[in-house]
This record gives sequence, structure tokens and C-alpha cells, in this order.
Amino acid sequence: MKNLLTDMAQWSHHFAQEILQAGDLAVDLTAGRGHDSQFLAECVDSNHTGCVLAFDIQTQAIDSTLERLENNGITASRISRPQQIAAPGTFLINASHERLPLFLPRPPKVILGNLGYLPGGDHSITTQADSSRIMTKAALEELQPGGRLILVVYTGHDGARKESDAITSDLAQLHPRYWHIITMRPFLSDKAPYLLVAEKRQPRQSLRERLLQQ
Ligand SMILES: C[S@@+](CC[C@H](N)C(=O)[O-])C[C@H]1O[C@@H](n2cnc3c(N)ncnc32)[C@H](O)[C@@H]1O
Repeated sequence: MKNLLTDMAQWSHHFAQEILQAGDLAVDLTAGRGHDSQFLAECVDSNHTGCVLAFDIQTQAIDSTLERLENNGITASRISRPQQIAAPGTFLINASHERLPLFLPRPPKVILGNLGYLPGGDHSITTQADSSRIMTKAALEELQPGGRLILVVYTGHDGARKESDAITSDLAQLHPRYWHIITMRPFLSDKAPYLLVAEKRQPRQSLRERLLQQ
């Protein structure tokens, strides 16, 4: 049985829920079996005002996510073009998350990705260093101020260490004036997944803006 303290997927939800409100836009970078998409939809769209975009390169994952959402009373649609995002709701995109900027109707509050392979699926189809790097760069750029990029990162399977190194070396270049970043990992297991959270800092107010508020 999973231990709650070391379950990074649970912590990823905690750090998302802390800032998400009804009406927000949230992104699931890797739909998989739909657990994260369902969680995000419940955070932002329980009153039908928010929006979730979920990506996955595998049709099997999109099917699985759709089924989970429907079983939990969440209406979702498959889309292939950004123009199909016409209203609040949950939208499933069978494409790589590198295409994220093309689909965003506005800056998202949370961009969440549980990397790696589809549980119960083909373990050779996993997120990859090069595409994850492109996705990370785009996500950081697109987040709204105060928003968070939340990644559960793996190191155990083939290529995972390379992907983890690529992402962390890029995040290490960010300036602390613009970003708060934390990592969280199980202390006693160096192969277990770990969590990365990058929060875009709110821009500092100008002196004029501060004076106007007084
Ligand atoms: C660990 S699973 C995600 C679990 C999922 N978030 C959930 O709640 O069930 C990782 C998923 O990433 C998907 N994936 C791999 N490369 C991808 C890419 N470039 N863009 C989008 N999804 C990708 C895989 O197909 C797999 O379904």
C-alpha cells in the first residue's frame, strides 16, 4: 500500500489545491489514467466556470481519462484544435504537451505533469528529456503570475535520469527574483519519484502603484 507521506502524486495535488479556485484554467500535461485530470476538474470546474486541458500522446490514455471523468460525472470533450475550446469544461488533447502554447486560451494557474509511462500500458512509451525540456520552458513562460508548474519526476526507468537531469538543470538557471522553486523527495529511496514545484513570482509593484493604493 502507498504511504501518504512519500506519495508524490498526492503532494502534487496538495500544491495545486493550495492555489486553485473555481473558474481557473489548469493543465494536465500527461492525462494517463485520468486521476490528475479528474482532480483538476473538481478543483476548477465543479461550478462549470473553470477549464482543464489534458494532453497525452497515447489514444489509450485519452480513452481511459475520458472514461474516468464520465464515471465521475465530469463532462469532457476530445479536441484537436484550440478553436474547439469555446466554453468552460474539460478538454482532452491527443498530442504531445510540447504543443501546450498553441492550445492555451489564457495563462493557466496550474500546470501539472506526472511524468513517466502509462501504468498498465506500454512501459517503453514514456516522457522524454528533449520534449519535457521544451514543455517545461513553454509552461514556465505561459503560467500566470502566482501560478505553479508542478512535476512528479521519475528516475528509475530507462531514460528517466536523463529527463530528470535535463529538467532540473534548466530550472536551476531561473532567477530567484522571478521564481520560487522547491523539490521534495523521499529521503530513504533515491529511485523513488520526486516532486518539483516552480511558482512564478508576482511582479513587484512600482512605487507609483504602491502610492496609489495608500
Ligand atoms: C505516469 S502517466 C500519467 C498519469 C496521469 N497523470 C494520471 O493521473 O493517471 C504518464 C503519461 O505521460 C504520457 N506521455 C508521454 N510522453 C508524453 C508527451 N510528450 N506529451 C503528453 N503525454 C505524454 C504517457 O502516454 C502516459 O500516459
